[in-house]
Amino acid sequence: MQNFVWTREKPLEIAILISGRGSNMEAILQKIQSGALERVKCALVLADRADAKGLEIARSSGIPAEFLDPGPKKTFLTPEAEKNWVERIRRSGAQLICLAGFMRVLKTDFMDAFAGRILNIHPSLLPKFPGLHVQKRALEAGEAEAGCTVHWVDRGVDSGPILGQRKVPIRPDDTEETLSARILKEEHILYSEVLSGISIGEIPIPAIR
Ligand code: GAR
Repeated sequence: MQNFVWTREKPLEIAILISGRGSNMEAILQKIQSGALERVKCALVLADRADAKGLEIARSSGIPAEFLDPGPKKTFLTPEAEKNWVERIRRSGAQLICLAGFMRVLKTDFMDAFAGRILNIHPSLLPKFPGLHVQKRALEAGEAEAGCTVHWVDRGVDSGPILGQRKVPIRPDDTEETLSARILKEEHILYSEVLSGISIGEIPIPAIR
């Protein structure tokens, strides 16, 4: 929680972490540009893959967007990598971190630095279907509805306090692709709704005491 000051007189500065396409990131940047998120500013986009498409999208909006080495493990940042990521985010001045399709679990160094001010978006109605391939799992389970969740990140996987959800129906002819696309549209609305609530002080940030 070091270096964390946000007075609400200033815009809330965010760092967005991505792994690929970056459509949630793009939706947030568009809302900022259009003035719909007037109390939010994006200070930095970081990706754990050099070929993440979202990096180009962010750069074309004039946002500093960088690949940072995640280390040799596939599912998490190594401790040495986490230290670099923490240092880079601190240097950006971001007060809030938004995971947007960031496909690694955050561990000790990262959580010690930023606990209580990391958001995640997940394509299921948590606590149902944490983890991976969740749209396929919702179809296989015969669910009548699916959706997306924005939540605070804690030290578990997709387990932190829920801030908002949007639901979609599951149709009889749905495939993993059609359902994912229907959920994604709602993700693009939900993330900005929650960010707006935080930026105007309606949703408290746990790291601010
Ligand atoms: C989104 O559906 C997001 O919810 C999901 O990855 C996709 C990223 O799309 N995230 C997770 O599954 C994290 N557990 P995007 O790169 O176009 O935003």
